[in-house]
Amino acid sequence: MTELVVPDGGFVPPPAVPQPNIFPIEWRVETPKLVEIYERAKTQGWNPSDIPWDAIHPAEWSREQQLGIAYWFSVLANFDASGPPVFAHATVQSFEQHQEDPLRKCFFSITRDEVNHEEVCQRAVQLFVPGGPLDWEPETDLEHAFHNNIGWLYHNGGRYWSGFERSFDKYPLAVVFTSFMMGEVASSTLFRGMATATSHDAFREIFKRVGRDESRHLQICLTILETSWPGLTEDLKEMITKQLRAGFVFLSMVLWEPPDQFWQLTPYFMSNHRVLMDHAREAGLGVLSYDEQAENWRLAIARVRKIVERWGIEFPAIPELDIEGVDVGDINAEDIIPVF
Ligand SMILES: [Fe+2]
Ligand SMILES: [Fe+2]
Repeated sequence: MTELVVPDGGFVPPPAVPQPNIFPIEWRVETPKLVEIYERAKTQGWNPSDIPWDAIHPAEWSREQQLGIAYWFSVLANFDASGPPVFAHATVQSFEQHQEDPLRKCFFSITRDEVNHEEVCQRAVQLFVPGGPLDWEPETDLEHAFHNNIGWLYHNGGRYWSGFERSFDKYPLAVVFTSFMMGEVASSTLFRGMATATSHDAFREIFKRVGRDESRHLQICLTILETSWPGLTEDLKEMITKQLRAGFVFLSMVLWEPPDQFWQLTPYFMSNHRVLMDHAREAGLGVLSYDEQAENWRLAIARVRKIVERWGIEFPAIPELDIEGVDVGDINAEDIIPVF
């Protein structure tokens, strides 16, 4: 029989694991609220295959409207399909930085949800434009306009990703999460609006489910910020103010219309974008009118403003929506870190 060995000179302590590292394994809980939210994420999980896709018959729409719907989901994919790698990255980083266990699990749950949102974009686009968003041969002018615009959009998505990848090294959690929070306020607002406006049951089902996930993501961000905001230095507050403007610049592409900053687009991009969005709107997808979108975006931003001002963080000027605030100067690709 093997005997237990208690060395005479005492047990030898292992070398400390060089950090950052995912080891040693531990499951520390500091914020019970995050445990609760993670539990909810598990039970509210859903399967995109359960959406009644069979009830969406492309033949019910004109070719223009079909393209409009696929275009809208291709635009959405710029944001929702970057969710999986963004949050997978955040998940790994949170393990390496030994963040508390429920926070890591919440990031994991957001990654899980975002993979579902990406799948929704994927299925919706392919239903109307097989091979879409880019791997198909456009023939008509409208099809070429669709294909070319999405190519340009993803060129900018690529610039966002290169900047984002470095953001965790560059910014503390409070700054990164203010940007994420802005994205989640934007996305929950967008899907709530579209769930009300769509005239198709299957799309309503999609927007309701995705919207519920997004409001849970928002709660996660707010819970994290409640603990990381107190004690912010003036420098960090300034960074956050700039991040809020960056959020507006980036997210406006899907919530409203992009401002004249950051975006590298062709001179005809916006005209063609509007034409395709009009087709999506006429198809009954639930795309709000330009003015309704602006109003919705303004309300969402007012909500963000109220949250951050409690912590003494100044708000950036958003003259596009008649919102007064601080001038934060130029916004570059590396400033853009929010996500849906
Ligand atoms: Fe989200
Ligand atoms: Fe999402």
